[in-house]
Amino acid sequence: MTEKYRKISNSPEETFNFGVLLGRFIEKGFLLLLLGDLGSGKTLLAKGIAEGAGYKNEVTSPTFSIIQEYNSGSKNIIHMDLYRLNTEEELIEIGFEEYLDKDNIVIIEWPELAFSLLPADFVFIEIKKLTDNKREIIIFGEGKQKEIIMERLNNNADIRN
Ligand SMILES: Nc1ncnc2c1ncn2[C@@H]1O[C@H](COP(=O)(O)OP(=O)(O)OP(=O)(O)O)[C@@H](O)[C@H]1O
Ligand SMILES: [Mg+2]
Repeated sequence: MTEKYRKISNSPEETFNFGVLLGRFIEKGFLLLLLGDLGSGKTLLAKGIAEGAGYKNEVTSPTFSIIQEYNSGSKNIIHMDLYRLNTEEELIEIGFEEYLDKDNIVIIEWPELAFSLLPADFVFIEIKKLTDNKREIIIFGEGKQKEIIMERLNNNADIRN
């Protein structure tokens, strides 16, 4: 199935809250690739996802550190921003491949550089700037992870107990 899920966000809060919802629906081993222009809302969405996945502390932008790790107790979340890297070699040097562990949730901003190093199953989340405050969030992909997220979004079931 190649159906896409589309969501309009009218404010930063709505984007964050949609992230929280996504965070509740994902599991260990999920790999989320965030696409979108500078300032589209990728970091904000990632913060929401981390919160939804159970992370309690404040999530900061990984822009200057490239990789940040948030441990929520039951889930280990890796948040990367590859914007400042230029080559695949640099990516390998920072230990990129070791982070793609099936026990981690991995969220990557600017993932283009990593495409040839990725496993088969992952989910694209694209954010399009429509106006200053309005965004379209589009979820797509060909794998099982995308199907799971789609199904949970469509049922809007809360899998936390
Ligand atoms: N509906 C919206 N959803 C998300 N962000 C919004 C929205 N409306 C306005 N904004 C603003 O857009 C900015 C998004 O910033 P954010 O750092 O999340 O972008 P980014 O995609 O991570 O950028 P970069 O590519 O530089 O990492 C914030 O300042 C936020 O307040
Ligand atoms: Mg960012």
